[in-house]
Amino acid sequence: MTHKVLALKFRPQQFSDIVGQEHITKTLINSIKHNRIAHAYLFTGSRGVGKTTTARILAKSLNCKNGPTITPCNQCKNCIEISKSISLDVEEIDGASNRGINEIRELKEKAQYQPINSKYKIFIIDEVHMLTNEAFNALLKILEEPPKFVIFILATTEPHKIPPTIHSRCQRFDFKRLSIKEIILNMKNILKKEGYEIDDTTLFKIAKKADGSMRDALSILEQVINFYFDEEGRKYVDAFLNYIDTSLFNELIDNILKDDKEQIIEKLKKLYFNGTDFKNFTQEFIEYLENLILIKTLHENAKDYVQETPENLNEMINLSKKCSEEFLQNLLLDLTNNFDKIKYSEFPHIHLELILLKNFSQKFFDTGERLEKKEEAKKDWNEILNYFSLKKPLIYGVLSKANVLKIDSDEISIEIEKGIIDKNKIKEALNNYFKKVTIIEKEKKIPFKHEVLNHPVVNDILTIFGGEIVKIVEYNNKQRN
Ligand SMILES: Nc1ncnc2c1ncn2[C@@H]1O[C@H](COP(=O)(O)OP(=O)(O)O)[C@@H](O)[C@H]1O
Ligand SMILES: [Mg+2]
Ligand SMILES: [Zn+2]
Repeated sequence: MTHKVLALKFRPQQFSDIVGQEHITKTLINSIKHNRIAHAYLFTGSRGVGKTTTARILAKSLNCKNGPTITPCNQCKNCIEISKSISLDVEEIDGASNRGINEIRELKEKAQYQPINSKYKIFIIDEVHMLTNEAFNALLKILEEPPKFVIFILATTEPHKIPPTIHSRCQRFDFKRLSIKEIILNMKNILKKEGYEIDDTTLFKIAKKADGSMRDALSILEQVINFYFDEEGRKYVDAFLNYIDTSLFNELIDNILKDDKEQIIEKLKKLYFNGTDFKNFTQEFIEYLENLILIKTLHENAKDYVQETPENLNEMINLSKKCSEEFLQNLLLDLTNNFDKIKYSEFPHIHLELILLKNFSQKFFDTGERLEKKEEAKKDWNEILNYFSLKKPLIYGVLSKANVLKIDSDEISIEIEKGIIDKNKIKEALNNYFKKVTIIEKEKKIPFKHEVLNHPVVNDILTIFGGEIVKIVEYNNKQRN
């Protein structure tokens, strides 16, 4: 017996089997019922969400011996041949490997002949965005005046690459990524038919990994089945899936909020020694932070968008209230900006560690927390400096050399050197701690030696006479007199 992969074995054969794309199947069913068939369809959406599957079901619905019908019989010669993609009247073309003008001309030729055994001559062009411009032009010619019996179903993962002229002649259907819920449900149905049972947590992990693609989910599921039923093997599900539980990210954020450096360092070290794939880890962390920001913005409503276990989600809601949006955004930015570094580093955990520690103090900016911290800050200029040294090195550079003239509960006056940084930037930064900020700028004093070495006259003398500077002596006014 040949082994058939799950994704193929369970390819939907009816509109009603297609999961999660009801907005599309309903419209298609209606148009078949009312005999309003378009001549060209454009199916868009990421990989493994049902584009090809739907195209074949549509083709069967139209060409079934009982057709047009909304429930193809799947038993007649036409249906069977379409399912096997060997029907002479339903041609599947891979746009990626048939992208030239000649292939499309050939197709145009074929489109002139009546279907052999069916009502319609159907062309399914996958990855249609790969066609060359000339090929698109040739395709446009056919779409402008298609023979009555010809139907095109164009499928693409990149609809923005389809020329508008083609686009406007198609009825477009956008396939969505499948939700974790939908994927889990479908896997459960399939497992039941196969006589297997896998626990919900594992199914959740698989569905999450599949990232909206049913095909990916089924192929991961298939691999998991291979070792899941072995007691020893079951322990390796997480490792196999590269699965990182969201609770770990929740803990890391909590550690930051609690200033718990040791915990962070310990966690990252442990991950490192466990052989964690930090590229994957960082990607997941980035996704997690995006979700946390979403929650911070949408509050409870985010539940519809963030796919998580109820426990993790509740903790995320809880954390989102505690940290500022600015902190989350900065952390997200730091991680995305440093993604390549982390990816190629021999010590990725150290990079991550530095990023997390660097973002430690930003959390002060959240409303509740900030007031509290402000109280302390008033008393302690060093703590403020410490904050800037971690978070805003440029401002720290200026403040560390500043003269503090006055500092009390909600007011500060400082003296800084002129021209190093925009005064308002400093003011803005300090306004997070003090209501009233006074900044006095004093002229920057250029070191005498520096001035001499860069003086045009000195330079000229050196080049013209080939001299050499032996010693620089500064005479003050008194001495000069
Ligand atoms: N919406 C869906 N409902 C049920 N199964 C699906 C769905 N989308 C994809 N699949 C599964 O994934 C496989 C590949 O789907 P396919 O239609 O070829 O994806 P696409 O053409 O969008 O890349 C199918 O054989 C089926 O097993
Ligand atoms: Mg496809
Ligand atoms: Zn049939």
